[in-house]
Amino acid sequence: MPKLLNALNSQVGRKLLTGITGISLTIFVIVHLLGNFTLFGEPDAFNTYAYFLENLGGLLIAAEIGLIAVFVIHAYIGTSIWWNRKKARPQKYHVYSSKGGPSRQTLSSRSMIFTGVVLLIFVITHVRMFKFGDTDIVTLSTGAEARDLKTLVIDTFMQPAWAFGYTFVMILLGLHLGHGIWSSFTSLTMRNKAMSSMIYTIGTIVAFLLAVGFLSIPLYIYFTGGEGSFIQY
Ligand code: HEM
Repeated sequence: MPKLLNALNSQVGRKLLTGITGISLTIFVIVHLLGNFTLFGEPDAFNTYAYFLENLGGLLIAAEIGLIAVFVIHAYIGTSIWWNRKKARPQKYHVYSSKGGPSRQTLSSRSMIFTGVVLLIFVITHVRMFKFGDTDIVTLSTGAEARDLKTLVIDTFMQPAWAFGYTFVMILLGLHLGHGIWSSFTSLTMRNKAMSSMIYTIGTIVAFLLAVGFLSIPLYIYFTGGEGSFIQY
């Protein structure tokens, strides 16, 4: 623990931790999206997947504690980097121009604190709603009794406020990751210009695909009234 506290206070430690936590969260988001796509699989694939996760016992608890720790460290360092920069440069520049090089000034990089705060609020609301939300119980094809999360997700996204609210937040997720993936990797690796440009391009593509992947779920459910042919019952 004292080592973690030292790392949080040292420049090099902070860089390492931002990189590690940023990449860990990106991996979580990729795995989560792949899991969510089971909504479009066999009729009880989504509930079976969630049932499998919820029954991992100690392993799930350890993963959840790890995830919370990663979120908290990431948010703490991100906010303090933003705050220190703000203190060092209290006056806003009127004209932003990107050098295209190490600084990578873009809408995505300038909105990191805003998109980060919205995502944090989103995650709290989201977990409350889906992880701890009330559901019916269904019998899976294996005979197990599971929470009917599939119906909860579909019922939620048939409501315009949730469908479009989620879509908006998923666009912000894409913006956050657009800069974040590049930033995490360059925090961990020695950068040369060619490598940095390549990571930036890959990061932007991954961020775009993740945002489109996530927002396709609420929009598809909303516009098909939950009865689109990609969802089997
Ligand atoms: C269309 C978008 C999304 C859908 C339909 C969705 C669905 C779900 C569902 C059903 C659960 C509960 C799983 C269970 O109890 O077994 C869940 C948990 C969770 N989701 Fe999402 N999710 C979406 C987007 C996101 C995004 C973008 C993030 C992060 C930025 C996120 C973070 C989480 C977290 C942290 C949990 C709790 C994991 C755990 O403790 O096991 N979700 N999500």
